[in-house]
Amino acid sequence: MGIHGQRGVSCADCHMPYKSEGGVKFSDHHIQSPLAMIDRTCQTCHRETEEVLRQNVYERQRKANEIRNRLEHELAKAHIEAKFAWDKGATDGQMKDVLALIRQAQWRWDFAVASHGAAFHAPQETQRILSHGLDRAMQARLAISKVLAKNGFTGDVPMPDISTKDKAQKYIGLDIDAEKAAKDKFLKTTVPAWLEKAKANNRLAQK
Ligand code: HEC
Ligand code: HEC
Repeated sequence: MGIHGQRGVSCADCHMPYKSEGGVKFSDHHIQSPLAMIDRTCQTCHRETEEVLRQNVYERQRKANEIRNRLEHELAKAHIEAKFAWDKGATDGQMKDVLALIRQAQWRWDFAVASHGAAFHAPQETQRILSHGLDRAMQARLAISKVLAKNGFTGDVPMPDISTKDKAQKYIGLDIDAEKAAKDKFLKTTVPAWLEKAKANNRLAQK
């Protein structure tokens, strides 16, 4: 959706640039950030210095993140306020529009953020989607305050302290120690078993 896509630049041009080894030229299958090798990625097409090109990327990411952060704050508040409304006796009918708006805001966040590269790949489109997401989140919060008023509540909804990752994980009831233990077990048992199987099937170098 960005200018590179529109000009036919492919993923591999930036993420799998050509390299040579022993006189053989091939595309690098170690897929990584193009910023780790700007001389073989951006500079095959652009004459600017590495630093200018790097800043081109960071500038687009910073600007998108500005709106992303705003959207995340409002979306989190909308979710918390929605629960508060249910607890105050809101009905399915009263919450119908609220739920649609929260979902619409959440989807826009997902679209713009979950792919990670979008802020550079398609800066304008990403900003557009994030802005609409922010708008939907604000509309959701407005709709919730009306639902709350109908149920006799007009004050500010109390907000939990989710200012750090640790506090946010506790608030949502995530057992991070159990998650870490599960990951540890996966790395120690499942992954080695996969590697053995891949070697047995000649899919992986024996060493
Ligand atoms: C014009 C160059 C360019 C093209 C073309 C391009 N990318 Fe990217 N991509 C980047 C840059 C730059 C980043 C950000 C790297 C960074 O922040 O270190 C990025 C980031 C990403 C990320 C996020 C990686 C992460 O860890 O956050 C993914 C995934 C990705 N690109 C996939 C793709 C796919 C799939 C395509 C093709 C559909 C593609 N890219 C096309 C330049 C490009
Ligand atoms: C295969 C060629 C190619 C590669 C590789 C490439 N670009 Fe581009 N880039 C283009 C083309 C083509 C355009 C559109 C310019 C035009 O048509 O006038 C463009 C446009 C741009 C623009 C201006 C876009 C805008 O916002 O209007 C920036 C900035 C840019 N590239 C940065 C980068 C960076 C950073 C990298 C490496 C991560 C990169 N490019 C890799 C071909 C490439």
